[in-house]
Amino acid sequence: MSTQIQDRRQAEPEGEIAPARPRVAVTEGGSPTDIQVNDHLPAIHPMAHEGSPNLESNQRLKHTQRLIETARRLVAGDKGLLAMDESNPTCDKRFAKLGIRQTVEARRAYRELIITTPGLGECISGAILYDETIRQNKKDGTPFIKVITDAGIIPGIKVDAGAKDLAAHSGEKITEGLDGLRDRLEEYSHMGARFAKWRAVIALGDGIPSRGCIEANAQALARYAALCQEAGLVPVVEPEVLMDGEHSLKRCGEVTEEVLRMVFNQLYVQRVMLGGMILKPNMVLPGLSCPKQETVDEVADATVRCLLRAVPAAIPGIAFLSGGQSGELASARLNAMNVRFKSRLPWAVAFSFARAIQQPALEIWRGEESHVSSAQQALYHRAKCNTAARGGTYDAAMEADQQTRA
Ligand code: 13P
Repeated sequence: MSTQIQDRRQAEPEGEIAPARPRVAVTEGGSPTDIQVNDHLPAIHPMAHEGSPNLESNQRLKHTQRLIETARRLVAGDKGLLAMDESNPTCDKRFAKLGIRQTVEARRAYRELIITTPGLGECISGAILYDETIRQNKKDGTPFIKVITDAGIIPGIKVDAGAKDLAAHSGEKITEGLDGLRDRLEEYSHMGARFAKWRAVIALGDGIPSRGCIEANAQALARYAALCQEAGLVPVVEPEVLMDGEHSLKRCGEVTEEVLRMVFNQLYVQRVMLGGMILKPNMVLPGLSCPKQETVDEVADATVRCLLRAVPAAIPGIAFLSGGQSGELASARLNAMNVRFKSRLPWAVAFSFARAIQQPALEIWRGEESHVSSAQQALYHRAKCNTAARGGTYDAAMEADQQTRA
């Protein structure tokens, strides 16, 4: 069994020397429970820096400290992100399934329900909005941005224009939205957004993903991230390897690792400051139709192993998407990662879930004013479970308690 040493240098914010981080030895082939902190390696040199001096334009220096602080706040403590940035077509599709009217007012009312959930700010550090939502108000006229900020939650915004068919690559997608992005980012920043999100989609199947698809999406993510930092917004970089299909957990791990390597390569080429961004990846999971479904601990091991191999220590945090997992499974898997590895990982391991936080609340609400309060309780419960999962204290009893109360 060979041992690969990964250099996990912790980047330091300008003018500040972080405590030395250990380097981590990753044991190939075995379980990541074998991951050893290697005390024999030299301490990180205090001059260790995440970029070379020629990366620093005046613009970048203007925003460096703010970007680092915002990125750290997004993954601080045991909180995580709430993705409520479904595009209108996606939101309408989810409403239609539950018989909810697909109107601007229904979408507004639903988003008001979410952001006025009592106690939400105890669990949620940042909320990702959609272009329609960031411009909306509560029924009493209070702008959503103010409601969110008053709750101690950092407002963010989805800025990609969706995944479209990639020419000459059947079954594969490229995320669009770079044209005019600089101006849109400036507008969102003036409105109060402090971070942004861009999602790339990688499908698994016969002969896919192709190198062309991975490269094109990684480059778009990196160009988006550089534009965000120029505008003073923290980029949440989301390369999602989809769960659909019969593929094994092993294959998902291989593809996720390849995608992440390409993404970080492109982030480097595009001069993105790693200390001022958040990675939003998929967990390493077997395909939804794969007959073998690994245990929670096996998923946690495979995910952490993959991330340790491909994600630089300089980023402050990883915030997973849920990707269609049930709320309970997403919490249990996040919990297992934190229970087993938290003290030995260079980055925070957090959440940025949409469905795994919202789905039970949406099913309770169904567009009925009289259901708002119980829907909010369900939303708060899922947010609370994920906060517990960050601290490694989530367990099934939390779900049973909630069912008894409901
Ligand atoms: P899910 O958690 O439902 O996958 O959504 C996360 C997200 O932001 C998708 O872009």
